[in-house]
Amino acid sequence: MTDAAPDLPRFPLGCHPLDQAHYWCPKPLYPWAKNAMRAVAEPFSRVAMACVNESGKTFSLGPTYIMSVATAFPGARCFCMSRTVSQTRDQMFEPMRLLVDAIGGDWSYTISTHDMKISHSNGSVIKFYSPSDPDNVEGYHSGPKMVNGELRWIPVAYWTDEDKGRDDEIFYRILRINPYFWLSTSSAGKAQGFFFNAINPDSLNQITAKEESGPQFLDAHYPDATSPVGMKNYFPDKAWQYRDMVSRDRCPHLITPDAIARFKAEEEHLGKNHPTVRAKRDCTFSVADDQNLIFEQKHIEAMIRAMRGQNTPVAGDVRFSADVGGEATGDDSVVMGRVGSEIVFIRDHWTSINEIDRADEWCIALGTHLALVYPDLYGRNRRPTKEAI
Ligand SMILES: Nc1ncnc2c1ncn2[C@@H]1O[C@H](COP(=O)(O)OP(=O)(O)OP(=O)(O)O)[C@@H](O)[C@H]1O
Ligand SMILES: [Mg+2]
Repeated sequence: MTDAAPDLPRFPLGCHPLDQAHYWCPKPLYPWAKNAMRAVAEPFSRVAMACVNESGKTFSLGPTYIMSVATAFPGARCFCMSRTVSQTRDQMFEPMRLLVDAIGGDWSYTISTHDMKISHSNGSVIKFYSPSDPDNVEGYHSGPKMVNGELRWIPVAYWTDEDKGRDDEIFYRILRINPYFWLSTSSAGKAQGFFFNAINPDSLNQITAKEESGPQFLDAHYPDATSPVGMKNYFPDKAWQYRDMVSRDRCPHLITPDAIARFKAEEEHLGKNHPTVRAKRDCTFSVADDQNLIFEQKHIEAMIRAMRGQNTPVAGDVRFSADVGGEATGDDSVVMGRVGSEIVFIRDHWTSINEIDRADEWCIALGTHLALVYPDLYGRNRRPTKEAI
């Protein structure tokens, strides 16, 4: 007989990130942030959040999650990692250090040239680092350990921020650690690499078709986190079980009249389809550096629109062409004119009494569409009118 596998430890009631959020986030969490917190609190969570710049992912998601783990699981080993040392210090360590400073008591922190650390008297440690070498990713694993003289089961938790474009090898090393909780956050970058594949926008977009009554991972203790969006974004059988792409319009502080006006001006300046604008508005990943491509993003979008029949006519040169059929053979004459990409005139069945009259009719028709005044075949100046054709 084998021993039954022990139940996976969970956040104790009252210590869940949603219960602790008001300590660690200066503003109430938005619905998408609540859903992410609910998802990341599940054992062996893998949560990937692509959010537009200034959405609050660094400000609200990370601190709420990490500080909650450190509080709820004595002895927890938490790691916070951004792309550079200064981002890690200024955007992760510093805001959390200020929180700890304000709360005091059981919390303390240390900072040196090598180390940024926040500790709790319960034995939990939050380490902040930015590995330039994948070999520096720590080899901790979750499991039973002695903490303050007691044998406890302790989790390893990772928060990786600014994940777009990070060396993929670092992610693979974290996978080997097999964190008990993992939150990966970033704005959108290029459509390649580990973070992009974790988000997997193509399959994520298909979830709009997913049943709203999808898998229920949200329990009755946190009813306000049970929005259909949360469930639609939950993929229990995938490597990244919870993924979301948060656009500007889901962040109320980014859609105040002032914020909209500022963004519109930027949009007008760079163009609606500029990769930066799209990343900041819709959280869209871009194909690659536009300058390295034969077709830029705007060209691809124009082609897609054209294929959907949504093309906007392009102004340009004017061409008319005709096939003059002989009356005797009974062929119809055809004539077509375009301005730029727009066909402004087409007549595929045109017979008249004789070729001279027809030529004259054509001159009137073409002149009408070109708004020309021209001498007719008899030398008279004619100003064609629509009625003339
Ligand atoms: N819920 C909120 N209510 C009001 N303001 C908020 C909220 N969340 C974030 N902000 C404001 O937005 C600012 C930017 O947030 P944050 O630094 O977390 O953005 P980010 O999503 O990490 O952006 P980036 O992709 O540029 O790193 C915060 O300093 C804060 O002032
Ligand atoms: Mg940030």
